[in-house]
Amino acid sequence: MKRLLIVANWKSNKTEKDASDWFKKIFPNLDVPAGTKVVVCPSFPLLSVCKKIAGDFALGAQDVSQFAGGAHTGEVNAKQLQDFVSWVIIGHSERRVMGETDETLQQKVAMAKENNLKIIYCVSSQDQNIPEDINAIAYEPIFAIGSGNPDTPENAEKVAKALRKKTTAEFILYGGSVNAKNVSNFLSSCSINGVLVGGTSLDPLEFKKIVETNVS
Ligand code: PGA
Repeated sequence: MKRLLIVANWKSNKTEKDASDWFKKIFPNLDVPAGTKVVVCPSFPLLSVCKKIAGDFALGAQDVSQFAGGAHTGEVNAKQLQDFVSWVIIGHSERRVMGETDETLQQKVAMAKENNLKIIYCVSSQDQNIPEDINAIAYEPIFAIGSGNPDTPENAEKVAKALRKKTTAEFILYGGSVNAKNVSNFLSSCSINGVLVGGTSLDPLEFKKIVETNVS
């Protein structure tokens, strides 16, 4: 049995009603393979409603403040998130392009750890800096994100293998244009044991197929 981490990154999508419809649609007859863990990452305002209806799915935040709290308008800190989520995504390329540096990301990682949040740390290549003691690393090449043009499973495996040498993280995820048809090519690669899914995760029935994917 391969232990898998399947992550839905909803990005800046969905209202409260959309979120509750999503959970209503995904749960009936859902058959999660033994060893598969699912994490759903909604926007901050949806976390409260999702917490009530997420069932066995874990929740994650899409980002966390680098600050502990206080006078930082617009920031959501790790202590606040702890009430709602057990996971947090740090270093997504859509945040890095807005100016997040390795130093900012280190601070975010420290905040997450201090507040017992498990970390999914995103990199776009094996050459990027990887903090110590991270739970999951997501390899997401920029060209593949939201483009419908995923990396080849062979190259993703090559990068994941290189990442394995740099980290003790339990999970190495692939992300970038993952869908129900191509997911098993990634999940069956030796060094990959999870996926980070953006666009396809918005559709509960398509995401359900991804969750139910069996690999040996
Ligand atoms: P995508 O996004 O699945 O829409 O390519 C993945 C991500 O950005 O995490």
